[in-house]
Amino acid sequence: MLRFDLVVVGGGIAGCAAALSAAREGARVALLTRHPDPEESNTRYAQGGIIHPDPDEPPELLIHDILEAGGGEPEAARLLAAEGPELVERLLIEELGVPFDRDEGGALHRTREAAHSTARVIHRRDTTGAAIQEALTRAVLAQEGVQVFAGVRALSLLSGEGGCSGVVALYRGEILGIVGHTVLATGGLGALYRHTTNPPGALGEGIALALRAGARVADLHYVQFHPTALYEKEGERRFLVSEAVRGEGAVLVGEDGEEIVDHPLGSLAPRDVVARVVWSAMAESDPPCVYLDATGHPPGRFAARFPAIYARCREIGIDPERERIPVVPAAHYSCGGVEADANGRTTLEGLWAAGEVARTGLHGANRLASTSLLEGLVWGWRAGRDAASSGCARPPLPLPQIAPPAPAPEAAWRRLREVMWECGGILRTAAGLQRGIEELEELRERYGRTELGSPLLVARAILEGALAEGESRGCHHREDAPVGSGVRGA
Ligand code: SIN
Repeated sequence: MLRFDLVVVGGGIAGCAAALSAAREGARVALLTRHPDPEESNTRYAQGGIIHPDPDEPPELLIHDILEAGGGEPEAARLLAAEGPELVERLLIEELGVPFDRDEGGALHRTREAAHSTARVIHRRDTTGAAIQEALTRAVLAQEGVQVFAGVRALSLLSGEGGCSGVVALYRGEILGIVGHTVLATGGLGALYRHTTNPPGALGEGIALALRAGARVADLHYVQFHPTALYEKEGERRFLVSEAVRGEGAVLVGEDGEEIVDHPLGSLAPRDVVARVVWSAMAESDPPCVYLDATGHPPGRFAARFPAIYARCREIGIDPERERIPVVPAAHYSCGGVEADANGRTTLEGLWAAGEVARTGLHGANRLASTSLLEGLVWGWRAGRDAASSGCARPPLPLPQIAPPAPAPEAAWRRLREVMWECGGILRTAAGLQRGIEELEELRERYGRTELGSPLLVARAILEGALAEGESRGCHHREDAPVGSGVRGA
């Protein structure tokens, strides 16, 4: 058994921030990453950027935009607006030197994304997440007091009467107990869906751990679908075409070249609105997609500003400077998760959550673009600091005996993802959700003890949440139910 003050599960922006802040409070930290490459995370795939408003922008404007887009909780939005800019400046820019793009005069370049009233998203071309992740991983590897364990699978939380006191994990073929206050920073769940912008490991692992240990989760059915992922005939994982492409002038059009989003904000309407428009339009198109027209840029501009998207388009034979980009929606972000307060504390003593796995109240039913990296940074930092100052964790004795689950057949994984896409996707109905739950139950009866067990648990919670909420709100859209209140996009 290994003992630390803090065990951080997940090495994206929230996990790294938690590890750094805790270690700087003097804590001994174990940072566990699921992938053998410690830089592999959801954070790495973020394209658009991170919110960092111009210092002249009044904080109330950002708070307003966040609440308008998602109908979330004002205290959470206020916290993000109050603490985010200073952390970005001090940690990411000054200390870690993340090379955000600047204009000729040396000022940070700020771009615009959907439902933002002003340009306030800083970026490193179209691979902002990778630039931030690289800098943060380098920092945690160099940080005194942090030990990074890469290639670790958390199988269960160590939880009992006294709350949570660590994890049981599989590392290099051995089952290990790792004791300490525990921060879940495991990212999202998009890979439960057939089409997603997320990496394959985004299976809601942290949510399953929390559910099994009895921590409260909320709003899991608020799954945000990104309207513009690259359409390719083969393949389930979708390459993201950043909203910043629309923020800098591209418009969504149908096969006939006519703009398809009928909304005062046009192609920059809130994400859920645009995703539904795209979904309906593609149902009537052959091939089933719509198009992003970014041909208005001067020659060479698209390739220089969006080099990763440009390269990927060229790989499939499309030149975005001269041709329209075929796009479709894909599951992108979980607005709900493990309930966490302003310090990331969950309802289970000894357990904190930060980043996409957490439900902090910031996003409500529809996340404002580019809030996620900032939320991970702010809540990760606060959770690490809070956990580091919370005394020692005591493990339950004896430690539970846990065996690693057996693999599940590929066909069962595929079926799970199809069920989620068909029954819990962009447009939902009570009948479809009910059918989905029944199908998941059949899968659970056969494969519940395999590696599919945890993903099935989370998937079911999503569908049950969607069935229970009999009105449409933000990214939860029930075709058979009225539109609820409080979310501009709905
Ligand atoms: C994007 O680049 O479009 C994604 C931004 C986000 O999801 O916040």
